[in-house]
Amino acid sequence: MALTDPSKRLEAMPPYMFAELERKVAGKRASGIDVISLGIGDPDMPTPDHVVAAMQAAVAENGNQKYPSNRGREEFRNAFSGFYERRFGVEIDPETEVMPAIGAKECIYNLCFAFLDPGDVALASDPGYPVYTGGPILAGAAPEVLPLVPELGFAPDLDAISPEALERARLIFLNYPNNPTGAIVPDGLFERVIELAREHDILVVHDNAYSETTYDGYVAPSFLATPGAKEVGVEVFSLSKGFNMTGWRCAAILGNADAVSTYWRLKTNVDSGLFEAVQLAGAAALDGPREPIEEMNAIYARRRDLVVDALGAIGVDVASPKGTIYVWAPVPEGHTSVSFCELVLEKAAVVISPGSMYGPSGEGFFRISLTTPDERITEAVERMRDHLS
Ligand SMILES: Cc1ncc(COP(=O)(O)O)c(C=O)c1O
Repeated sequence: MALTDPSKRLEAMPPYMFAELERKVAGKRASGIDVISLGIGDPDMPTPDHVVAAMQAAVAENGNQKYPSNRGREEFRNAFSGFYERRFGVEIDPETEVMPAIGAKECIYNLCFAFLDPGDVALASDPGYPVYTGGPILAGAAPEVLPLVPELGFAPDLDAISPEALERARLIFLNYPNNPTGAIVPDGLFERVIELAREHDILVVHDNAYSETTYDGYVAPSFLATPGAKEVGVEVFSLSKGFNMTGWRCAAILGNADAVSTYWRLKTNVDSGLFEAVQLAGAAALDGPREPIEEMNAIYARRRDLVVDALGAIGVDVASPKGTIYVWAPVPEGHTSVSFCELVLEKAAVVISPGSMYGPSGEGFFRISLTTPDERITEAVERMRDHLS
């Protein structure tokens, strides 16, 4: 074995999907082509002013430069408790049922190390956010993908999970509003998942990354608002997308107190918590006005309509998503996900993501992200219309 060979676990990981895309785009740009990226979902609009002001004050405060505690500042935990009550009607004990996370990605990854051993299984929505499968692999366990079925409103068919997988499963990862499909939670799904979790002793991890980013009057629920949810599950709530704070790494885990405590135990061995100034800024975001969120959502809704119309013009019919920052669409006949995205990059110099990057059930689809300024989105869809119809 060579000195710098990676571990077998790392070797087992597929390459990080955006690394591939970024390499291709860099190649085009290096040859002078103006590439528009509708690939990655990273909000382009600024963080709301009151959050920035809270951060500025918190950074200047002596004491916040010190190691944070993994339990989190009281202000942060109380702000989450208040937000969950107001926004979702969910009671959260700020002492035991909420803890900061350094982004949802960190949280999901570390939950794998907190709960999975070799031989265990994690049930992972497919297509889905890549850490649902990468985290279990790195933890030495096995992901078992749960295909999201378009005809079921992108719910997984829970009856189709094999008895062997259910026997070994310790975690199930779900996410609504859903990346990459844009689907909202189908009626009754959370209730059925809670029953399954009870029956098979599986901890439910609901990744609530997009609940604040919704359109057309739709208001997304918290998984924790479903009766019995706290007995079997946790929710990971990220401020990244809803508050334009992807770079701040500000999230929390909420719900089952024992699961939160086990996550804490793992974290005390791994990292030193979330920068306290970020916690105070996060609290300001949660306590602050809704208007900035509504304004952002109005902008995304406009971009979504532009994209859906342009796709219609090239013969791709899609339903308008009611949530998330993505449009998920089937590739035209005769194409695979990758071949269509390559065609769009070649002909229109526009980057879109192949659905297959999000798991085997993503094959046959592509994803467009709405996090590019209006004029660039307009140009991108015009190019697609001109060069692909
Ligand atoms: C479903 C989902 N979960 C989690 C994340 C990452 O969130 P964070 O920035 O809090 O790590 C993303 C980002 O794209 C996502 O789409």
